[in-house]
Amino acid sequence: MESNPIGIKGIDHLEFTCDNLQTQTAKDFSRLGFLRTEYDESTQSELFTQGQIRFLLTANTNKSSQSRKYFNTHNEGVSKISFLVEDAEKAIETAVKRGGKEVSNLKVKETQDGLFKTAAIQGFGDVINEFVERPSTLFRPGFKKLDNDSHAKPLATRVSRIDHLTNNVPKGQMDHWVNFYKEVYGFQETRYFDIKGAKTGLKSKVVQLENNQVIIPINEPEVENGKSQIQEFLDRHNGAGVQHIALMTPDIISTISDLRQRGIQFLKVPHTYYEDIPKRSFEVTENLQTLENNQILVDGDEKGYLLQIFTDTYVGPLFYEFIQRKKHWGFGEGNFQALFDAIERDQIERGYL
Ligand SMILES: [Fe+2]
Repeated sequence: MESNPIGIKGIDHLEFTCDNLQTQTAKDFSRLGFLRTEYDESTQSELFTQGQIRFLLTANTNKSSQSRKYFNTHNEGVSKISFLVEDAEKAIETAVKRGGKEVSNLKVKETQDGLFKTAAIQGFGDVINEFVERPSTLFRPGFKKLDNDSHAKPLATRVSRIDHLTNNVPKGQMDHWVNFYKEVYGFQETRYFDIKGAKTGLKSKVVQLENNQVIIPINEPEVENGKSQIQEFLDRHNGAGVQHIALMTPDIISTISDLRQRGIQFLKVPHTYYEDIPKRSFEVTENLQTLENNQILVDGDEKGYLLQIFTDTYVGPLFYEFIQRKKHWGFGEGNFQALFDAIERDQIERGYL
């Protein structure tokens, strides 16, 4: 079986829709160490970059634009996932042949840098999936480069790329969207979780490209006698959406210390979590007190481990994760339960449960 029939090279960018560019989300991108690098007047879009990561913030007021429609239904959130592809024409043809629903046909623009091509299919919920083929020197026609971003300064240790991004879908739809990514994109299903908290639960399956360039966990709530954190997300976002974006850092302690000084808020982890680390199956070289001071989570196996941390919600119910991998290409399965328990305790404290 062809492992990457669409020819996806990676995530080109994520588009966040908003009402205007003065939104708190823009200020938060700056606090997270992103720099404004390009701007497009016609779509009211600003490009924020860090490492290989591109976040496009769009305040398009054109009523028929997809980003504005997304905003009107869901408020702020990720309205488009753009995949960089080898050949956009082949990508859209193949995606449609494999069951994808085309929402934007192939558009080709000649530019000074070379040919710029895009097309798009419908993704999960109201999110669209764009295929973009472009010269490396050109982000998008119409964008103007900005010089010094006075709003931001880079992090002491910058994040380098998107490790994974998680989709939340309504109960009963996880397998449908797992199949979408498998059938249309040829993604592999690599993991399955069934997490049960004291009162609620969630199911999650991970689909990904073989080369780890795109990793997408898909969550659905398991509602029995209560409301789950996934259901709370769906209620707040008015439907399916990107729940969190995991950003990879080569030195999580440095990155997180810096972000804490900038006032970014993270999920709190109980002390007992750190007492239990030496009993687990992996050997951690970091000082446990330093990890606890920064509230960083650890998970792994005999071969290696990863360090990760989750922020509070920042774009509506969306949050960020920071992750450092040390010979462990797992997903933080052990922390899934710890995270779930921690959020549930928070929900109880806030009176949601
Ligand atoms: Fe994650």
